Amino acid sequence: MDIRILENVEEIGAAAGRIICDFVNEKPACVLGFATGASPVPTYNYMIEQFNEGKVSFKDVTTFNLDEYCGLPEGHKNSYKTFMFENLFSKVDIDPAKVNFLDGNADEAEESRRYAEAIKAKGGVDIQILGIGRNGHIAFNEPSDEFTDEAWKVTLSQSTIDANSIYFDDTEMPTSAMTMGIGSIMRSKKIILIATGSSKAEAVKAMIQGEVTPQCPASILQKHDDTVILLDKAAASLI
Ligand code: F6R
Repeated sequence: MDIRILENVEEIGAAAGRIICDFVNEKPACVLGFATGASPVPTYNYMIEQFNEGKVSFKDVTTFNLDEYCGLPEGHKNSYKTFMFENLFSKVDIDPAKVNFLDGNADEAEESRRYAEAIKAKGGVDIQILGIGRNGHIAFNEPSDEFTDEAWKVTLSQSTIDANSIYFDDTEMPTSAMTMGIGSIMRSKKIILIATGSSKAEAVKAMIQGEVTPQCPASILQKHDDTVILLDKAAASLI
């Protein structure tokens, strides 16, 4: 793990964004894996800035998002697809035909197969962006007794519901989601995990210094050979 402790979220966004933009300039038809939530937003802002300055184009990039809630209709304002269009896709030249999402309303087994095949057909994910849950989850792989492999349908933990329900004002937050599995995340060639704020400090400590266990799903990243962990001081305060 390449662990970097930076000053603030803007520096973290620029560090992650630079890795992504440099890579896209080297390999324009690359495959990027995206996360939603607060952690990657400064990275997406940096990518948008670079695009606006004419320093990078995403027109040939293919994307796969990590997860999607179950039970929300297409186009719902709280869906992760909407989040990605609002925070990145509509602001750069990404081709909407090249973006991929899990369908939270599809049959679990068929959807898992479809996503795995789509990723494989593109040659795998080159760079995967991750956040981390307060309970150590990555994507929506919650603490459990075993590491998952391909995409699956998860029942969200109370910790995740507490953290994310702030985004749901007039709709009840879904209690399940389709998520890429740990195996599919680990097959990404490079991973960038972003964690900021003291609410992530325990999870960050367990991820980096704890045993590798599905009780802290992010701890599996100790076994990935090209993972960059970008932290602010608060998230790094216990390591
Ligand atoms: C979202 C996702 C989640 C988040 C995590 C942290 O696509 O996969 O694992 O990355 O819950 O969320 P934030 O960044 O909002 O603290």
